[in-house]
This record gives sequence, structure tokens and C-alpha cells, in this order.
Amino acid sequence: MAPRGCAPAQLLLLLTLLWPLPRELAAGGRWSGEGTSPQLQSVFLGRCAEYITLLSPQPGDKNCTAIWEAFKVVLDKDPCSVLPSDYDLFINLSRHSIPRDKSLFWENNHLLVMSFSENTRRFMPLCDVLYGRVGDFLSWCRQENAPELDYQSCPISEDCEHNAVDSYWKRASMQYSRDSSGVIYVMLNGSEPNGAYPVRGFFADFEIPYLQKDKVTQIEIWVMHEIGGPNVESCGEGSVKILEERLEAMGFQYRCINDHLPVKLLMCVDHSTHPDCALTLSAASTGRAPSSHFPERSATLILPLLAAVASGSQI
Ligand SMILES: *[C@@H]1O[C@H](CO)[C@@H](O)[C@H](O)[C@H]1NC(C)=O
Ligand SMILES: *[C@@H]1O[C@H](CO)[C@@H](O)[C@H](O)[C@H]1NC(C)=O
Ligand SMILES: *[C@@H]1O[C@H](CO)[C@@H](O)[C@H](O)[C@H]1NC(C)=O
Repeated sequence: MAPRGCAPAQLLLLLTLLWPLPRELAAGGRWSGEGTSPQLQSVFLGRCAEYITLLSPQPGDKNCTAIWEAFKVVLDKDPCSVLPSDYDLFINLSRHSIPRDKSLFWENNHLLVMSFSENTRRFMPLCDVLYGRVGDFLSWCRQENAPELDYQSCPISEDCEHNAVDSYWKRASMQYSRDSSGVIYVMLNGSEPNGAYPVRGFFADFEIPYLQKDKVTQIEIWVMHEIGGPNVESCGEGSVKILEERLEAMGFQYRCINDHLPVKLLMCVDHSTHPDCALTLSAASTGRAPSSHFPERSATLILPLLAAVASGSQI
């Protein structure tokens, strides 16, 4: 299972699948994952301080030193004996509420989710919550038979289930789900060859089961396709259908949208000349078919719009 948060999980997984030699690549390390991130404590504390002073939705009583001390107990444990519950105190001290209708769950979309959420301003995915932010993109573990940190390599799920990083994301994902309310958004990747909804994954195993029925009004699934395809799966198809059936069986109201327009506009920032990114707003609003000067016309319409999206204004 790939790490969570906004870390480049899929890439890492893909590399391990393509090359069976990351152990050698990791400078002779014992495990398949990246070693402990350099400056772990400084990065953690800096992110925490930035979050609570500049971003926190409820300013106040968080103590980053105490949060770090609660977190670092796992750095004293055997690298394959860290349980999600070992992060209970860390979560307890760093936890804060998630604004209603702002939760954004996802699979196979990390960079898009990060840019769309706009650092908590538009949405608040797990990596924009304090307890997800402090560990995002990082790796950590103790050496197997020594008290020091292992900077060569750390175990991932292929090495052992109870590794420090996976247990962290499991615990954080469970909390994030429990604290989510209102409309729940889920961004999936309909161009992913293995299916948009991994039936075993963080969302399936550590998020869906912890959603609170009485707090969730609706679940809205966005299946995004890469600009120009491929369209591997859409709403009502394949693994997306499995997800829809699961949510229905659990009694959730849900709806599924293909290529949700605000997200698609953001994707189009990098593909502004692609035909799929041409806007036909003028034709739509006047009810006329696009005229022959449509290409120039659409370019003049699309550029200010994309600039607005890129600068972070609300759409
Ligand atoms: C923050 O936590 C640390 C470690 O528990 C403690 O020593 C310190 O007094 C706390 N600071 C405040 C302002 O409460
Ligand atoms: C977490 O905080 C709650 C109060 O908000 C407390 O009841 C609970 O015992 C705490 N849990 C841990 C593990 O410290
Ligand atoms: C969606 O999945 C495809 C295929 O794995 C990948 O190339 C693409 O980068 C993914 N899109 C996003 C936004 O991550």
C-alpha cells in the first residue's frame, strides 16, 4: 500500500515495481523505502510553527514542542513494530476540526489535490491538516538493532506491515475521516490503469470505514481524466462502480461527476492549447454554434480564466 498524504506515493511504488533493486539504490540499506529524512525534527517543527501561526483555522493552544515529543516516541521503537495507536497522543495534541464541506479525499492524484486545495484555502485534504502536514513527504524510522535513526532506508508495506510511516498515515487517515462532515469530496484518477478506486488502499481501508454517518450529508466523487485521455474508467464503471455500490450499501447519499469542471480548468493550465481545454462559453451562453473565428475567441476567453484559477481566486 502506498504512503498517504500528499507524498509522491505512486511514483515510489512504481519505481519499486519497475526496478527490483531499490535496496541497492538505497546505498546498501536493509529496507525498500527511503531512509529517515534529513533534518526531520527541524522540518517537522518548522511546518508545525508555520501551520499554527499562519494557517490554523482555530488559533491558539497548540504546542509544537509537545506535539514533536509525542510523535518521536515511535523513533525509539523497532522499525517494524510501530502501530497506528502509537500515534494516539500525537494526534490528540495536534488534532483540530476540519471545516464542514472542506474534506477532500483522493487516490492517485496527489499533485493535483495539492494545487487544487490551495494550502487549505479552497479545500482541506489530509496533508492540509496539521497532523498530516508535519509528516508530508517525509520518512522516518529507527535502526533495526540500534537506538539511532536509520538514514539509509526505512521499511515500507512490502517489508513489514507495522512500519512507522504507514502506521502514521493509517492513524491520521482514520482521524481525518472521523472529523469530516457535510459534503465529502473524493477525487479519483480515471486514467489510472489499475482502476480509479483501489479496492485495497488508504481510502478504502482507513477512511471510508471511519466516516460518521450522522455528520456526512453527501459524498461527491470526481473522476478526473488526464487531458487527452486515456479514459480508463468513468462514473458507473469498473472500480468506480464498486465504490458507488459500497457507499450505497452503507447508506450514504452520493453522486459521481466526470471531469468536475473547476478541477479540469486547473488541469488545463498545463494544456491550454489542447482542444479539450477550449472553452465554448460564448457559444453556450448565446445558444449559437461556435463561429469560424472560434479558436481565437476561445483563447481570449480561456486565458483570463486560467490566470484567475492559477492565482487562486475562487471559481
Ligand atoms: C510546550 O510543551 C513543552 C513540552 O511538553 C513544555 O516543556 C512547554 O512548557 C510547553 N509550552 C507551553 C507554552 O505550554
Ligand atoms: C485525548 O484527549 C481527550 C480529551 O480531548 C482525552 O479524553 C483522551 O484521554 C486523550 N487521549 C490520549 C491518548 O491522550
Ligand atoms: C493519473 O494517472 C495517470 C496514470 O497512472 C498518471 O500518469 C497521472 O499523472 C495521474 N494524474 C494525476 C493528476 O496524478
